[in-house]
Formats: sequence, C-alpha cells, structure tokens
Amino acid sequence: MKKSPILIVGKNGKTGARVDQRLQALGYATRAVSRSTTPVFDWDNPATWRSAIKGTTTAYVTYQPDLAVADAEPAIKEFVRIAAESGLKHIVLLSGRGEQGAQRAEEVLKASGLSWNIVRASWFYQNFSESFMLEGILAGELVLPAGDTVEPFIDADDIADVVVAVLTRPGHTNKLYEVTGPRALSFAECIQEISDALGRAVKYTRVPIDGYINAMREDGAPEDLQWLLRELFTVVFDGRNCNVMPGVEEALGRPATDFKTYLQKTIESGVWNAVMQRESA
Ligand SMILES: NC(=O)c1ccc[n+]([C@@H]2O[C@H](COP(=O)([O-])OP(=O)(O)OC[C@H]3O[C@@H](n4cnc5c(N)ncnc54)[C@H](OP(=O)(O)O)[C@@H]3O)[C@@H](O)[C@H]2O)c1
Repeated sequence: MKKSPILIVGKNGKTGARVDQRLQALGYATRAVSRSTTPVFDWDNPATWRSAIKGTTTAYVTYQPDLAVADAEPAIKEFVRIAAESGLKHIVLLSGRGEQGAQRAEEVLKASGLSWNIVRASWFYQNFSESFMLEGILAGELVLPAGDTVEPFIDADDIADVVVAVLTRPGHTNKLYEVTGPRALSFAECIQEISDALGRAVKYTRVPIDGYINAMREDGAPEDLQWLLRELFTVVFDGRNCNVMPGVEEALGRPATDFKTYLQKTIESGVWNAVMQRESA
C-alpha cells in the first residue's frame, strides 16, 4: 500500500521548508501547505484545514504568526480535533520557549489523544538572514528594543534535523525536546560576530520599546503584530530563556550548530552580499 504523505503546515516557513526538503531527500512523500499552496491551508480560515489534512497520518505543524498570540490556543484545539476526526495519528508541534500561549498549546496537543512530539525552540539564527532582521543588517544597522539579555539562538537546520528524526526514527514518541544553540548571545554580540565575519561594519542600536512600537504603528503594522513584538521583546525576552538546553544533542546525539557555522553558511548563500558590495565599493 502507498504510504500517506507527511503533512507539513508551514511550507514556506524557515523550518517547514527545511523539513520538507529533508523528508523528500529521504524518499518520503510530503504535503507541504500554507496560504499559497493547493490545497490551501490558512490558520485564519479553519474551513481550509480539513482538506489539507485529509489522507495524512503524520504532521509537522508550525502556527502563524506565533503561539504566543491569544488566537493560538483555540486554533490548536480546533486543529487537533479536526485532525483526529480526519485520521491523523501523530503531530510534531513547533513551540517557542518561555511563551505562556505556547505552553497552553503544548498542553492541548498532549491531551488530544494523538501521539505527539513538541520541539520547543529558542529564537532562530535565520531571523538575521531570512526574516525581519535581514533589512537592518543589509542597511548596516540593526535597531531593536533589546538590551544585554542573552538568548541561545538556534540554527533552523538543527530544528529541521530534530523534526525529521522524530518523524522518521523510532524511540521519540510523546517526547518534548527543548532545543537551543550551544551559546547564549545578546543581539549586540550577534551583530558583532556578523560584522567580524563579513569584515564590514554592521552596528547594533538599542531603542526603547515604546519608540519601537510607535515606529511600527507609523509604518502601518497591524495591531496584533505590534502586540506580538511588544510581548516578545518585553515578556519573553526578559531573561527567562537565557539558559542553553540539550534538546538537539538528546534528539540527534550530536551538538547543536554554533553561530559561527551559521555565519559561514549564510555568507556562502549570498544573502548578505549587499553589505559587502556596498562597503567595498
Ligand atoms: N522565528 C523564531 O525565532 C521562532 C522561534 C521559536 C518558535 N518560532 C515559531 O515558529 C513558527 C514560525 O514562525 P516564523 O516567524 O519563523 O515564520 P516562518 O516559519 O518564516 O513562516 C512564514 C510563512 O508562514 C506562512 N503563513 C503566514 N501566515 C499564515 C497563515 N495565516 N496560515 C498559514 N500559513 C501562513 C507564509 O507562507 P504563505 O504566504 O505561503 O502562507 C510565510 O511564508 C511560529 O509558530 C513561531 O512561534 C519561531
């Protein structure tokens, strides 16, 4: 009998795309979905969920925009209900460290009757190269409302490796892996390492949270995004997540990838070329 595809909710995401690519390379059939795929999957439109899930028995699930938001818990509750009804048996949920909303979503999954894994991650290295911080780096100055608090940022490639391991190898059922990188760094330290690796000046500037959110509002950012960024940079980034955790080693039997290795890969990808070209011109 043909094996059912593995559902990936978050096809174009920083981890979803990596999980999809790895599973396909291993010969697994996948169904990677988001708002721009057929079938469509939109977290804001539960009517799209059932047809995306149909015919799958295992799923990797990333919620948008973040499990910290108030809508996340009811959405995960409804998702697991529909998933169970549709014959899905196992869900791997990407979660975030230190977020009350994320922990409520984790509890929903654990109580669902489905088998599960939770991959509870620190902030991704790839926020510097594939997300909202890229623009600042290309401009030569990253401006954020974060001070000296350190964060053990993690490589999204490590998260994808952990997800693929729990999806494809035995011995992981109903386990939570709290995954971080091997070193806790402040934003200023990350930018210094990026600047050193590029051999070009990139600076970090801290601004007060209210000024940062006001600037977002003036740029037309939606209210829920303003709320999320305030929550992330005040509550979640208050130092509660500064410790390094062993989840990558526990799941994979190898250490987590260092920030310096990420820097080399990212320089080779060319995504920061504009910094080097501008300043060497
Ligand atoms: N970034 C981090 O440092 C970090 C750390 C820990 C945990 N997390 C968790 O990781 C998850 C992903 O966060 P991320 O910021 O890294 O995003 P991401 O994985 O980069 O995902 C972005 C993609 O999500 C899709 N998307 C956006 N809105 C959607 C919706 N309403 N329904 C379905 N798909 C939607 C979009 O693709 P389409 O346009 O095709 O829909 C977009 O390309 C979140 O749950 C977050 O809490 C992130």
